Amino acid sequence: MKNLIRLLSLLTLAGFILTSCEGPIGPAGKDANETCKDCHNSAGIDSVKTMFELSKHSYGEAAFGESGTVGCAPCHTAEGFKSVVANNTSTVFSIVAPATTYSNPYTSAIDKSYGEMRCTMCHNKLHTGYTKDDFNTFTTVAAVPMTFFGGAKTIDLQQDGAKSNLCIKCHQPRPFTRTFGDKNVIDYTALVSSPTTVFFDGANPTSTANVNTIRPGYRTHPHYGTVGAIYAGKGGVEFGTGYTNSQHTTVASCVDCHMAPVTGRTGGHTFFAKGNFNGCNVAGCHAAAPITSSTTTAYWAATRTEIKGLLNSLAAKLTIGGVDILNRNPVSAEKSYVNYDYNFDGTAEDFLAGVNLWAGLTNNNYDGYLNIYDPNTNPLGTAQNAKQFQNPAPSGLNAAQTAYNLTLPKLVLTNAQFGAIINFQLCLRDYSLGIHNTKYVRTLLTNSLAAI
Ligand code: HEC
Ligand code: HEC
Ligand code: HEC
Ligand code: HEC
Ligand code: HEC
Repeated sequence: MKNLIRLLSLLTLAGFILTSCEGPIGPAGKDANETCKDCHNSAGIDSVKTMFELSKHSYGEAAFGESGTVGCAPCHTAEGFKSVVANNTSTVFSIVAPATTYSNPYTSAIDKSYGEMRCTMCHNKLHTGYTKDDFNTFTTVAAVPMTFFGGAKTIDLQQDGAKSNLCIKCHQPRPFTRTFGDKNVIDYTALVSSPTTVFFDGANPTSTANVNTIRPGYRTHPHYGTVGAIYAGKGGVEFGTGYTNSQHTTVASCVDCHMAPVTGRTGGHTFFAKGNFNGCNVAGCHAAAPITSSTTTAYWAATRTEIKGLLNSLAAKLTIGGVDILNRNPVSAEKSYVNYDYNFDGTAEDFLAGVNLWAGLTNNNYDGYLNIYDPNTNPLGTAQNAKQFQNPAPSGLNAAQTAYNLTLPKLVLTNAQFGAIINFQLCLRDYSLGIHNTKYVRTLLTNSLAAI
């Protein structure tokens, strides 16, 4: 309906422009009407717009919910995204006086932090040349200094016109920051170099014996868009050696698989890869042994089974006294569609009452959150986990909940365990069970298992 209204207003407006302007708006040699029709016709952008309705960029509610929030808008809103691109906003943490601790500068301008994701978010040169060439220039394809590392590492995938960089600018993990002290991004390399150092001690939750600490909660996580980091082979806590990348990192681009020829409700401008195998076989990529369905063994079923097994094993090892460190949640996004509540009124159900976007990717349906008691942000957690860990910094608990919290075991983590947790989160939330970058994920998970 929203799009119908938009189209009607478009036609009215286009008609108005054409009848009220002197001469054509488009390039010389074609009258304006013809120029407009190059794109504004049913086979042209109209069909792309119809596909785009099936893209979560369009139907997802986060653009609406995160409008107005400068820390979220760079990746969740159209104007916020264009703002960080135009300002070349830094991802390097800095101390801004009068503050004495670090803060994350990766925010959009307050007067530009809004807007549903639309065509012009990625195609920012529309209505400049008035030719189809307008679609070949993107808002950005520049290298992406990663916010996860506070800018210390950069992703730059040059193949296919560097279009993957456009996606990765948003589809990248967010940084873990120290709870105390300077509040800088944590030193991920210390998790590797001093594996047995206590990272966090639930018996002494405000201790800063280790400056590089985070007091964990249910929502201690690298956010949702971990794909870019895994795909590029940059972003894990790299225990041990042997890291290499699969061919995809340098040969394929996000567009190849996510904008492959449409099949069902996938491909093209739906941006979904799930269920679309066209991308595997374009440009003769897997021509020798085509990957055609979810039952194709080599490079699909076998890979995914192997990586699922590694995730299951790592989760099984990330337990203390038989209690899972990782949170279980069997409620899949599809199943709970009708329960979506995105009114962002501060109630627990704002986060879809705990929908798990990664349900089914592990045997126990881990969602990448931590199994720490928090009845406000994770109301179903008590029912979904056999036992939870004590919340080291509870807020908003009533008397009964406070008393119950104190009966729960205290979480104690080593550096190696916290690094392994991060790697689990990154690999699970990559969605693809190793398809994006098999070699990197395999090594990250195998070495994590060896480190804890
Ligand atoms: C290169 C392709 C292309 C050409 C040529 C083109 N347009 Fe567009 N136009 C688009 C796209 C794509 C959109 C959709 C923008 C969106 O929904 O975010 C659009 C949107 C519009 C809108 C606004 C609709 C809205 O929902 O806000 C108007 C009005 C419009 N075009 C008029 C024209 C006129 C008049 C011409 C000819 C002078 C023209 N366009 C030529 C691609 C084109
Ligand atoms: C401005 C930031 C931004 C850019 C650029 C961007 N995305 Fe997204 N993408 C998002 C956000 C945010 C969501 C989730 C939206 C929501 O849930 O409301 C998303 C959702 C998706 C999804 C659906 C994920 C799911 O949970 O099912 C896919 C697939 C996707 N994007 C692929 C791409 C590809 C491929 C590109 C590059 C061509 C791209 N995106 C560019 C921010 C972006
Ligand atoms: C660096 C980019 C980035 C920033 C900054 C960011 N997000 Fe996201 N967020 C994403 C991407 C990308 C997705 C979708 C990932 C996917 O589904 O694959 C996402 C997904 C989400 C989702 C899940 C949407 C769904 O449909 O399930 C929520 C909720 C969310 N973000 C909230 C926030 C909030 C709140 C902030 C600010 C505190 C924020 N995000 C900041 C990139 C970002
Ligand atoms: C998240 C970023 C993104 C958004 C939003 C987006 N596009 Fe695109 N679009 C791309 C990319 C990337 C390509 C290049 C695809 C390729 O190289 O195969 C592209 C290609 C195109 C093309 C040329 C090839 C084709 O598929 O026909 C057209 C036309 C187009 N887009 C129209 C639109 C319209 C209309 C909208 C809004 C309804 C839109 N795009 C929204 C990223 C985006
Ligand atoms: C070689 C093909 C391929 C490439 C290249 C690729 N992906 Fe994927 N992607 C997949 C597959 C396969 C899945 C899992 C689909 C499923 O669950 O069946 C997936 C899943 C996803 C999802 C979850 C939603 C969905 O479509 O299922 C997101 C988001 C995503 N990829 C983003 C990206 C981004 C961003 C890039 C570029 C950095 C990228 N992908 C490159 C194949 C690819």
